[in-house]
Amino acid sequence: MKPVVLCTPRLVLSTPVAADAAAVFGHCQDEELQRWTTVPVPYSMADARAFVEEHIPTAWRDGTEAVLAIRPAGASALMGVISWQRRRGFVGYWMGPEHRGHGYMAEALRGLVDWVLSGEHGVTSLRWEAVAGNRGSAHAARAAGFRWAGEAPCDVVDRDGAHPPGWHAVLTRGDIGTVEALERWPVLA
Ligand SMILES: CC(C)(COP(=O)(O)OP(=O)(O)OC[C@H]1O[C@@H](n2cnc3c(N)ncnc32)[C@H](O)[C@@H]1OP(=O)(O)O)[C@@H](O)C(=O)NCCC(=O)NCCS
Repeated sequence: MKPVVLCTPRLVLSTPVAADAAAVFGHCQDEELQRWTTVPVPYSMADARAFVEEHIPTAWRDGTEAVLAIRPAGASALMGVISWQRRRGFVGYWMGPEHRGHGYMAEALRGLVDWVLSGEHGVTSLRWEAVAGNRGSAHAARAAGFRWAGEAPCDVVDRDGAHPPGWHAVLTRGDIGTVEALERWPVLA
């Protein structure tokens, strides 16, 4: 898969590069991020370097995952990371703690969804999941148009090898921009 650059009103989504390792390392120290994702704990600078220098280029090349840095338009700082786990059909994301609460993740997710479901990839739907209780992630997915799909064990395995209880949602091409998708999230009621 060829790396892309996606632009949204306030953001640029582009492939992380070696110089982003320090920002990735810093953000991944956050307890919330460690709680709700499967990043290694403790998270080292070697983990950050392996992520940007090895995992991401390999995933793009193999077409397994499209990983993009979330940057403010006109600046280079990496604020967060978003990905299309192409082989699995899921989206995944995190935002650095100091950049949360500005609607950036919802905006980045809408940009990613538009690209993935544009038709050029032959993909018509995308899945989201989070460990049950992750209201922040659920709000961002809902704001991007995902439809609630119920509670079931997560597809992904946690650090202890178990499938934790999960929340699930789906977004299909026809859902983009519809109000109906915003109404069906019982866990956020
Ligand atoms: C979840 C996360 C990505 C949200 O990023 P963000 O940039 O703050 O999200 P946004 O500002 O785009 O918020 C989008 C919506 O979620 C809401 N929201 C964000 N964090 C929230 C929280 N912790 N609790 C409740 N609502 C939250 C916002 O108010 C907004 O709601 P609205 O559209 O109804 O106004 C971020 O908190 C994070 O990285 N958390 C740790 C890692 C993680 O959980 N990743 C996802 C794994 S599935």
